[in-house]
Amino acid sequence: MDYLQIIGGNTLKGSVTISGAKNSALPVIASTILSNRPVKLTNLPNVVDIRTLLKLLKMLGGEIEHNGTTATINNANINSTKAVYEIVSKMRASILVLGPLLARFGECEVSLPGGCAIGQRPIDLHLKALEAMGAKIEIKGGYVRAEAPDGLKGAKIIFDKITVGGTENIIMAGALAKGVTKIINSAKEPEVVQLCEIIRDAGVKIEGIGTSTITIYGTNQKPLEFKEIKIIPDRIEAGTYLCAGAITNSSITLKEVNPTHIQSSIDKLEAMGCSFDIGERELTIYPTNRLKPINIITSEYPAFPTDMQAQFMAVATMAIGESLIEERLFENRFMHVSELNRLGADIWLKGSVASVRPVAELNGADVMATDLRASSALVLAGLVAKGVTNIRRIYHLDRGYDNLEGKLLSLGANIKRLSE
Ligand code: UD1
Repeated sequence: MDYLQIIGGNTLKGSVTISGAKNSALPVIASTILSNRPVKLTNLPNVVDIRTLLKLLKMLGGEIEHNGTTATINNANINSTKAVYEIVSKMRASILVLGPLLARFGECEVSLPGGCAIGQRPIDLHLKALEAMGAKIEIKGGYVRAEAPDGLKGAKIIFDKITVGGTENIIMAGALAKGVTKIINSAKEPEVVQLCEIIRDAGVKIEGIGTSTITIYGTNQKPLEFKEIKIIPDRIEAGTYLCAGAITNSSITLKEVNPTHIQSSIDKLEAMGCSFDIGERELTIYPTNRLKPINIITSEYPAFPTDMQAQFMAVATMAIGESLIEERLFENRFMHVSELNRLGADIWLKGSVASVRPVAELNGADVMATDLRASSALVLAGLVAKGVTNIRRIYHLDRGYDNLEGKLLSLGANIKRLSE
């Protein structure tokens, strides 16, 4: 199995191009089920999760040409509506095919994703909303079986909790439903906005894009005609490289980035003492050699994202005082704490709050990646730890970071991928 070896201590410099957003590409790929014509996607990140979802579409009968950052998907001849356990268990986001399959074909079977490393992550809100749209749903043999033989009907959906995937599933379901679907308390993440925009550009009237009330005027099962779609920049990848600059006391320029999408990370790093040059598609971080401690509470966009919590915790280990980091979205998203402590960090957990106390230095050690973003926190810590850090189970990183070690290497890090 592959692992990453980092020898810490190098200062980084130069620029790094940010890839397309995995979390935008996934719903966009799922939404192509709403069409029976070829759809071209560009700026896809070259990561395992994208290949997994494309594989699922292929299993359903989709025809796919995929070449690194570009794919053409033709879902004209889908002949199966079953998303099997083998794929869904690998990637929870496969649940995003539920809404579009049901909307287009009036039936589908999707394996229940189950829990995952960062928490329970139920899909009850997705199911309740689809039921409100007229779907009959049964859970049997580990599968969600959904039926709406006469098509889905527009409905007023009030999400009790803000859910990104739930909002995306219902936007896609609403696009082909009969009548108007109104989502109240919808997610406002940039990835949700992109999904709305491409569906709007495919001819569906959508109001309230980017707000917490989205109204979709369904086409009554008329398939969509998408234009070519360019995936937005990955705000979590961008935030991770800003953290790389902050923790190694280096100036790094990000290219092909949307600074607006990472404002909350910029604000926190500014509060820690870093400064920025902010352009339209480019951003440079200037570090400080006296990182101030920080208080963070994770929340929904535009507030501070849970997907950046682990990386900021790594940076906070190098601050000159105690930082407090509270995780409000997922109940078990602190598995990086014990691994960071193996590198010499001094982090204490009390419920959903981590107290990160200052240490003079981190020291290289063998650590294990536990989930996607936790893994990148270990990489960041490895960049400053004295000596050798070996990070195992990096298949988590490969799910979501496009060429992480190549990009860090080009910035001057001492990092390599090895096989055992
Ligand atoms: C998406 C992102 C993930 C990010 C998360 C929160 C993708 C592919 N993944 O995940 O990287 O960390 O948003 O920003 O875009 N919940 C329920 N019932 C449901 C659905 C969700 O209780 O039916 C809860 C979840 O357990 C969690 C919270 O709602 O506590 C938010 O989850 P959600 O926004 O749905 O996350 P995902 O869409 O799975």
